[in-house]
This record gives sequence, C-alpha cells and structure tokens, in this order.
Amino acid sequence: MFDDDLDEETPLSPYPATGEREDETGLRPKNLTEFVGQARVREQLELVLGGAMRRGSPPDHVLLSGPPGLGKTSLAMIIAAELGAALRITSGPALERAGDLAAMLSNLAEGDVLFIDEIHRIARPAEEMLYLAMEDFRVDVVVGKGPGATSIPLDIAPFTLVGATTRSGSLTGPLRDRFGFTAHMEFYVPGELERILTRSATILGVDLRPDGAVEIAGRSRGTPRIANRLLRRVRDYAEVRADGAVTRDIAMAALQVYDVDELGLDRLDRAVLGALVRSFGGGPVGVSTLAVAVGEEPTTVEEVCEPYLVRAGMLARTPRGRVATVSAWRHLGLEPPAQAPGEVG
Ligand SMILES: Nc1ncnc2c1ncn2[C@@H]1O[C@H](COP(=O)(O)OP(=O)(O)OP(=O)(O)O)[C@@H](O)[C@H]1O
Ligand SMILES: [Mg+2]
Repeated sequence: MFDDDLDEETPLSPYPATGEREDETGLRPKNLTEFVGQARVREQLELVLGGAMRRGSPPDHVLLSGPPGLGKTSLAMIIAAELGAALRITSGPALERAGDLAAMLSNLAEGDVLFIDEIHRIARPAEEMLYLAMEDFRVDVVVGKGPGATSIPLDIAPFTLVGATTRSGSLTGPLRDRFGFTAHMEFYVPGELERILTRSATILGVDLRPDGAVEIAGRSRGTPRIANRLLRRVRDYAEVRADGAVTRDIAMAALQVYDVDELGLDRLDRAVLGALVRSFGGGPVGVSTLAVAVGEEPTTVEEVCEPYLVRAGMLARTPRGRVATVSAWRHLGLEPPAQAPGEVG
C-alpha cells in the first residue's frame, strides 16, 4: 500500500505513476541512435545485434539489469526494432502457470523477440519451462493429471528472449546462465539527462532553455523517467505562472513547489537523513529501524531512498548499519561530528 501511495505522491519515485505509462510511450527512443547515454551497453548491443544480423540468425538471449526508470523497456523495444522483429511482451508476475508461458512460446514465429519484464518474479514451474525453451527451443507440455499425465515435447521457433530485472541478484543461477549477454544499466550523468530533456521538450513542444535543462537534470537522480516527469511538472508551472518558457529560475521555483530540493532529494529522503542524524546521532542504525522512524516500509527506504542517498554521498552502508556522512549533516544545515565519514559515492 505504502509503495502505491509513494508512487502517486512524490515526483521523484523511479516507478511510473498511475496513468504515466501513456505519457512515456511518446517519449521513448525508437532506435539505438535516439537512445541517449549508456554508451557501453549501446556498443555491446550493437555488436550482439550486428553479429546476429550478419549471420542471419536470432541473437543470444539478452538480460537487461538495472534500477527502475533507466530505459530497460525502451531498450527491449529498440532491440526488436533494430532486428526488424516482432515483439511479444509479458512479465514475470503474469506467468503464474507454466501453461501461460507455453501458450506464449508456441505462438512465437521465427526470430520474434519475447520480452519478459520483471523476470525475477516468474513462478518456478514457468521458469523451469523457460530453461529448455531458451536452450533447445523446445517445451514439454504436460497433458492430463496424476499418474496418467504424459509430457509431449513441442518444438518452438528460434526466438530471442529479452529479460528485464531491477534485481538481478534475485535471479536463479540457472536462469542467469542462459542469457548470452547481460547489459548492466547505469544511472545517467547530468549531461546525458540534459540531452534527454531537450529531446523530450522538442517532442512535447515545451520551450526548454539550456539553463532550465541543467537545473532539471541536476535534480533527476540520474533517472530519465524522473527527468521527464519533472519536465512535465515544470512545464505546468511555466504555463500557469509565467509565459511558458522553462528557464533556470522557473525550474527552481516550480521544483520548490514540488518539494524537490537542489540535490534531487524529496521530503522522504530528507526525513530519512533527518531521523538518522537527529534520532540516531548519525548512526550506525539498521534500515528497518530507520524505516519505522519515518513511518515507511523498509523496502521503500531500501529500494527508493537508499540507493540515491548512497550515490549522492549522503549515506554510507556499513556492516553495523547505515551511517550519515559529512555531506548529509551539512545538507541538513548541521555541523558534522568528528567521527562522521567523509563523502562517499
Ligand atoms: N536512454 C534514454 N534516452 C531517452 N529517453 C529515455 C532513455 N531511457 C529512458 N528514457 C525515458 O524514460 C522513460 C522510462 O524508461 P523505461 O520505461 O524504458 O524504463 P525501465 O528501465 O523499463 O523502467 P522499469 O524498471 O520501471 O520498467 C521512458 O519513457 C523513456 O522516454
Ligand atoms: Mg520497464
């Protein structure tokens, strides 16, 4: 429940808000050239796809791994587009029964790309069926129940599986091993986010000035989804309160209304840092204790706040718990104690 509330309320959630999927569709890059940043992943993919196209056979299965909102779904669509292949989309949670997957697999045509989002959440029987499908392009369909049940092997067309996961650590070894190539997506640097914002502004018809793009990029937590969302919020402000042009001043004023501070921290992030510093003397303290102190679910604190706080050099993970760094104390306008660790990240 908490997670859903958070998605709706904070403009900085890396997860899509309700109804936001449609907004995103128009902003998705359509091919590798339009896809900004992730230079390493892009180069690797160009080789994987280029090699397969020269050979005239479907490329190896691809795993896209990384935090939410960095462009995994976009890349999956781009892979199919670059190959000129049809894309079939499903997700781990939708594949509850092996039969669901069998139906999907047996409907594939040669060379199709099958995209399984959140593949770490696939049910066990479906996962086992996927092993054989990925390796031998075969499924064993079980017909009947009990002692009379028989398993009928069925050939399926050679296809390419693209899996996406925000938690590659929760993938089982056998599944991970069956991917020929894993793309590790990184957070974007501000310059890349500026390019993404400029492109989105052109598509949306927003008058985004270069200094406005810099300001929004700096508060977007390295995440294109957040950058695009902040652009939409700032545009509203610019149209209602000003002449529509998104300058640095307009961006700053708008983001203040939405409680997004100059480092891209929101109310919850500041609450977490505040609790850590004020209630626990800067730590170390366990993440679940910290979550209780701010009235949030531990998973929200761990998956949404923490990764960014660590990356921003505000929070350090130690074996004994979470610790506030010198920058965290300073960001809250407090004098750091001598034992506070320096900037990390
Ligand atoms: N490299 C990029 N260049 C331009 N826009 C991007 C890029 N990466 C992501 N985006 C934008 O960010 C939005 C979110 O991307 P996408 O849905 O692909 O992320 P995701 O990694 O699949 O997220 P999730 O883990 O939540 O499924 C898209 O609407 C897209 O417009
Ligand atoms: Mg996605």
